Amino acid sequence: MITDHFNRPLRDLRISVTDRCNFRCPYCMPEEIFGERFQFLPKAQILSFEEIIRTARVMVGLGVKKLRITGGEPLMRHSIEDLIAELVKIEGVEDIAMTTNGYLLPPKVDALKAAGLHRLTISLDSLDDAVFQRMNGRRASVEKVLEGVTAAEQAGFSPLKINCVVQRGINDHTIVDLARYFKERGHIMRFIEYMDVGTMNGWRLDDVVPAKEIVARIHAAMPLEPLDRNYRGEVALRYRYQDGDGEIGLIASVTQPFCGDCTRLRLSPEGELFTCLFATQGTDLRAVLRSGATDDELVAFLTNLWSRRVDRYSEERTENTTPRDHKVEMYHIGG
Ligand code: GTP
Ligand code: 5AD
Ligand code: SF4
Ligand code: SF4
Repeated sequence: MITDHFNRPLRDLRISVTDRCNFRCPYCMPEEIFGERFQFLPKAQILSFEEIIRTARVMVGLGVKKLRITGGEPLMRHSIEDLIAELVKIEGVEDIAMTTNGYLLPPKVDALKAAGLHRLTISLDSLDDAVFQRMNGRRASVEKVLEGVTAAEQAGFSPLKINCVVQRGINDHTIVDLARYFKERGHIMRFIEYMDVGTMNGWRLDDVVPAKEIVARIHAAMPLEPLDRNYRGEVALRYRYQDGDGEIGLIASVTQPFCGDCTRLRLSPEGELFTCLFATQGTDLRAVLRSGATDDELVAFLTNLWSRRVDRYSEERTENTTPRDHKVEMYHIGG
């Protein structure tokens, strides 16, 4: 086990397998920037499955227990199920989950289950078609994502987690509907405070609906009570419905930051490591992998990186809200 400057162990590895996505959510990949001619990473620059598997294996040896596959949209990566099938075999991996926008799930989900994926999280920002079509930038319908939800249920992935990024004046008037719908369907709805990730979404503090306000609005319709965290370092604050039927999660990164217990390391598609979601700079692991480093050399490299880690951006942001300039973009590290 290795620990950072603030004594936080390394427990979670979030692997972004592609920078491509079939959506253009304005808060992540605005269409004006990611248009027809945008150059995504060429294949040679992206880590191969072998390189990802090796990295994960070495990190599990250093204490990683949870893996999350993200993107961009992870289902845009060819044969992603083959990667998962190998990752689940690594001894010491306790949990392997994927965050997807759900659109491409129906033809893929059985293969993901067969590969051994443990859990799925599907993003859906509103049940209102007009609102959702605006928020995904590609006029994808709610129906299509719900087909992904149904396919995931049929493949045996229940309960699912459903992620909604809440933006004031954009979709916040639709959150109670979302909560009610997924309560009835037996899934865990999670509301995420809109974050100042990256530099392209024009984030303003006024756009954020604080978790407390989200809880109050849902509580008024369907009474809630707080639950303890499932484990130290869990990102979401949990509430259960007082009628005993289901729970929700709040990710209050802006108003109630959780850096103190942050045990997450992020790997980008081209093999850069980020020790914080809001990092301005990554560390080039690909060069090390491709230079013929031995496992021992990789261990030394990662131990050195993690032991120097001092990131606590969300806590600092609250004390001093001046935004950083060159932050890594969300579509590169998948949240
Ligand atoms: P579980 O493993 O099910 O607890 O999932 P999770 O909550 O870790 O993962 P998910 O990918 O669903 O993330 C939900 C939201 O939390 C996303 O918007 C992420 O960007 C955000 N998030 C996850 N980890 C961090 C973090 O370390 N810092 C911040 N600021 N946000 C995070
Ligand atoms: N703030 C909060 N959440 C975001 N996500 C993407 N961009 C942001 C942002 N700026 C969400 C996605 C997905 C999860 C991985 O992160 O919608 O659900
Ligand atoms: Fe794609 Fe997810 Fe970014 Fe939307 S938030 S553009 S679905 S990667
Ligand atoms: Fe971890 Fe950075 Fe998020 Fe804080 S802001 S919880 S240090 S990733």
